[in-house]
Amino acid sequence: MSNKEFVIAPSILSANFAKLGEEVSNVIAAGADWIHFDVMDNHYVPNLTIGPLVCQAIRPCTTAPIDVHLMVKPVDRIIPDFAKAGANIITFHPEGSEHVDRSLALIRDQGCQAGLVFNPATPLDYMDYVMDKLDVVLLMSVNPGFGGQKFIASALAKARQAKARIDAYERETGRRIRLEIDGGVNTANIAEIARAGVDAFVAGSAVYGAGRDEDPHRYDTVIGALRAELAKA
Ligand code: DX5
Ligand code: ZN
Repeated sequence: MSNKEFVIAPSILSANFAKLGEEVSNVIAAGADWIHFDVMDNHYVPNLTIGPLVCQAIRPCTTAPIDVHLMVKPVDRIIPDFAKAGANIITFHPEGSEHVDRSLALIRDQGCQAGLVFNPATPLDYMDYVMDKLDVVLLMSVNPGFGGQKFIASALAKARQAKARIDAYERETGRRIRLEIDGGVNTANIAEIARAGVDAFVAGSAVYGAGRDEDPHRYDTVIGALRAELAKA
């Protein structure tokens, strides 16, 4: 896969919320591809973050896709709100929905791309009967709820398994599903993760930690370093 096809998706969870609009436009100007938007409800995960109002507020700050990661339970009620707020991609955890197939269909009916998120201990089997409704498979390489955690190494073997399923499906249908990873991604491990088959990389603290409250050009440096590592993969 060429470096251009790799997606870097900074998670605004680690951004400076007091100037979120600038934080969004600055990482895109620095070469990022998607904005990763972490939604936590203090119920499915033990933290509380941002909702559709904030998505709507940042929508005018960029034309880049907004990648909404729902860590909420239930999911169906809130999906149309995010679609209306300008989300492009909406992913959720199977544990957050009583009817996974229906929730995926709901996201696509709203004109967004849909994806399932797998916690470190969640089996990939949820993928198998809904491949036709998946645009993205998102693997958690930390337990969801907080930025700045350490990458869980078993996510690499899981990525290779997910990639094999995605490739088999692509050979059958010609349709491509992205494989995204979230948690603990940095310049030291991104190349190895790419070699396991991942093509979209969420990075929160690695990107925003490097430039926070400083010259926004430091985002160029870290995103450039991530891309340089990807070029080795
Ligand atoms: C964790 C979130 C992540 C988080 C990643 O529950 O889903 O998107 O922001 O942060 P880092 O890259 O710091 O692990
Ligand atoms: Zn996330």
